Amino acid sequence: MRWHCCVTALAQQTSRLYLLQQVVFGKDTEHQAGALVREFGGTKVLVHYGKGSVKRSGLLDRVFQSLDEAGIPWVELGGAVPNPHLSLVHEGIELCKKEGVDFILAVGGGSAIDSAKAIGYGVKYDGEVWDFYEKIAVAKDSVPVGVVLTLAATGSEMSNSSVITNEEGWLKRGYSSDLGRPKFAIMNPELTYTLPEYQTMSGCVDIMMHTMERYFSHEMNTELTDSLAEGLLKTVMHQAKILLKNPQDYDARSEIFWAGSLSHNGLTGCGRVGDWACHQLEHELGGMFDVTHGAGLAAVWGSWARYVYMNDIPRFAKFAVNVMDVPYNYADPEKTVLEGIEALEDFFRSIHMPTSVRELGVELTEAQILELAYKCSHMDKRTIGGIQKLTRSDMAEIYRMAK
Ligand code: NZQ
Ligand code: ZN
Repeated sequence: MRWHCCVTALAQQTSRLYLLQQVVFGKDTEHQAGALVREFGGTKVLVHYGKGSVKRSGLLDRVFQSLDEAGIPWVELGGAVPNPHLSLVHEGIELCKKEGVDFILAVGGGSAIDSAKAIGYGVKYDGEVWDFYEKIAVAKDSVPVGVVLTLAATGSEMSNSSVITNEEGWLKRGYSSDLGRPKFAIMNPELTYTLPEYQTMSGCVDIMMHTMERYFSHEMNTELTDSLAEGLLKTVMHQAKILLKNPQDYDARSEIFWAGSLSHNGLTGCGRVGDWACHQLEHELGGMFDVTHGAGLAAVWGSWARYVYMNDIPRFAKFAVNVMDVPYNYADPEKTVLEGIEALEDFFRSIHMPTSVRELGVELTEAQILELAYKCSHMDKRTIGGIQKLTRSDMAEIYRMAK
């Protein structure tokens, strides 16, 4: 399907929704990789991937074959790790420059895609690519990126974000630019059959959180956006339970795949200003302790929600009723809110996801909590969150609660 760009103004907020990407969805679609690269002008490709799952599954060979059939020369660079490293990005930039690469094809999950986006920015920039992630420079150009997706989670296949970890200081930082949005995403749900349960379920949490980060904001008059978000959340919860029992259920894999893309392409945020505090809190955990992103989000969400809900009881109550099926308590709406938070944590537990940092295998010391908060506040230079602006000391308190 092809979508076109539009600008929407909903409620009090002006939103920008970018939808000029090609999604090729369904069985065997990876065989179209070569033709799609050609369609988007690629004449020499860097195929970028992770630590080897795409080799073991045979996917990489099928992608190479498709490029060969389209007559497109390629070079390869594997090794993108979860919470992808800046050093590999540097390697990719050098390789692309040396080989005259003009298109990057990421084959894998969010880490390979984010690393590919970063390489794309770096090739077209004379300075240090980390400048973008430090927000001291803005990308003016990028090598285009395409995706063959193997994991439903980050939505990076349609998002304008890329998240990279700098091993110097273990800082995990994001950069967003429409230049980095993939030109196309090939999405064959069967490619996700080989995922371990933990990755599948972490992905489901990440998808939900991309929607919830947008849902939890003070904007009121966004009925359609709210309904889309609520429908997406209920779909993911329903299908995740199916995948727990049968990881090779094609329909469930398809629903989750599609939800992943729509949860992070802006659709469920039209007219709203997102909160994003949980993502910022998790990114520091990922940078310092290398935890799986979605699991890290599940570990902090409940503590964040209990810390901030008083700022918007109606919004949290709406979530409890419409998403978690909690009956509205007219005498005590706060009880509705707390039951909704508990219900989502129960769901996380039911899909074997953590609801505390300890369950991630990390025993946080007070010194580490203070370090996390210091880094998350960008060395005390920023607040995070929309439902409530969180200062460095608020961040530390949430880490303490989530411990
Ligand atoms: O490296 P390989 O061998 O491929 O193994 C990966 C990795 O170990 C494995 N895997 C992926 N597809 C598989 C598979 N194993 C078997 N079968 C398959 N089909 O799964 C592991 C995790 O892969 P990764 O790409 O790291 O996972 P994910 O897609 O969750 O990406 C996580 C990264 O994306 C960032 C996260 O912070 C994290 O760094 N995010 C990116 C966003 C964006 N660009 O828009 C938004 C998100 O909020 C997030 O921050
Ligand atoms: Zn995420």
